[in-house]
Amino acid sequence: MKKVLKVGIIGTGWISNQHINGYLQCDHVEIAAVADINENAAREVMRKYNLDCKYYSDYKKLLANSEIDAISICVPNAFHSEVTIAAAMAGKHIMAEKPFVSSIEEAKKSLKAIKENGVKCAVGYHRRFNPLYREMKRLINKGDLGRVFFAQSDYIHNFSDLPIISWALKKEFNPSVFHAGGGHCVDMIRYLVNDEIAEVCAFVDNSTCPECETEAQTIAIFRFQNGQLGKVTSICPNVITPFTFNVEVYGTKGTFKNNKLILDSFPDFRSKKQSEAYAVYPEWMPDNTPGITEPWDIEIKEFVNWVLNDDEKTDLCTAQDAVRAAEACWAAVISNAEKRIVKLPLIDFV
Ligand SMILES: NC(=O)c1ccc[n+]([C@@H]2O[C@H](COP(=O)([O-])OP(=O)(O)OC[C@H]3O[C@@H](n4cnc5c(N)ncnc54)[C@H](O)[C@@H]3O)[C@@H](O)[C@H]2O)c1
Repeated sequence: MKKVLKVGIIGTGWISNQHINGYLQCDHVEIAAVADINENAAREVMRKYNLDCKYYSDYKKLLANSEIDAISICVPNAFHSEVTIAAAMAGKHIMAEKPFVSSIEEAKKSLKAIKENGVKCAVGYHRRFNPLYREMKRLINKGDLGRVFFAQSDYIHNFSDLPIISWALKKEFNPSVFHAGGGHCVDMIRYLVNDEIAEVCAFVDNSTCPECETEAQTIAIFRFQNGQLGKVTSICPNVITPFTFNVEVYGTKGTFKNNKLILDSFPDFRSKKQSEAYAVYPEWMPDNTPGITEPWDIEIKEFVNWVLNDDEKTDLCTAQDAVRAAEACWAAVISNAEKRIVKLPLIDFV
């Protein structure tokens, strides 16, 4: 085991704060460099976290630094694959922000580069580490919910006050708003259902945000390989509500609706009135604010452990997982455009 992992951060905007916060909590990590085309943004982050590290305006120069073992990709969505491929070819382990890739071609090239260069790559679906979804996963795996037959999730986010509003509605920087936001939900239901999505159909509407060049509102429905159904709703950026991320999982023996668990063994699970009708967990629903409900720091610690230890097993979203989530999102966009059910997979893994 290597003693210290030297990390480079590529892109020093909002999300880089969450990655840096995670790395700074790790004993065996040194942030060795940051890269951003905007030097002020990089210098601000260096100052804020007291980072005594190198700055590069060109991320390729950061990748050429042989001291660096791993990188975080925190640049706008359209550049994720380009940076992933270059980083893998430079032999760096990768913590990539979501969405992972933007096309079938990018997916194939990224997976190939990762495999051929023997690097580890995780993708930023950090909500897998939220305690509520860990509990859902634990109970599902234990069989307490019976056979899961339906899962649904919503991503509803007015991000008009965040820096990403300057690029996230433009296809050139963000090829799919549904993949960027709803992708969190797709990863979550795929993770909880424990199966691959086989069929997708969807509707998209941009009436709330005509300036969005891709998908402002999307409702996608899924059928998994073993018949389970899924539904994902994504609404952004113009919506009058606080950030909302709902997850509901329905099994033959029990149901998890956000922080409420209902089992068939509860005395009167049909009654809404009785307090014994369900078990209530803490309000751990995500609110897009760093902390226990948005555990970016836990995700980064998991990534560091995964890289530093030989253990292949991880709850992180792997590159292959992220490609499966990506193609389900692209299938939704295709379904809406072509008015048909789209079958998956779009990509065969080699
Ligand atoms: N996992 C999550 O929940 C989550 C939350 C927010 C953002 N994100 C993802 O993080 C990424 C960044 O989002 P953000 O909110 O930090 O955006 P941001 O606009 O705040 O920051 C992006 C930074 O990248 C820099 N940049 C742009 N092109 C670059 C290039 N070619 N080389 C180097 N730097 C470059 C910009 O100058 C900027 O500082 C996006 O992909 C987004 O989807 C994920």
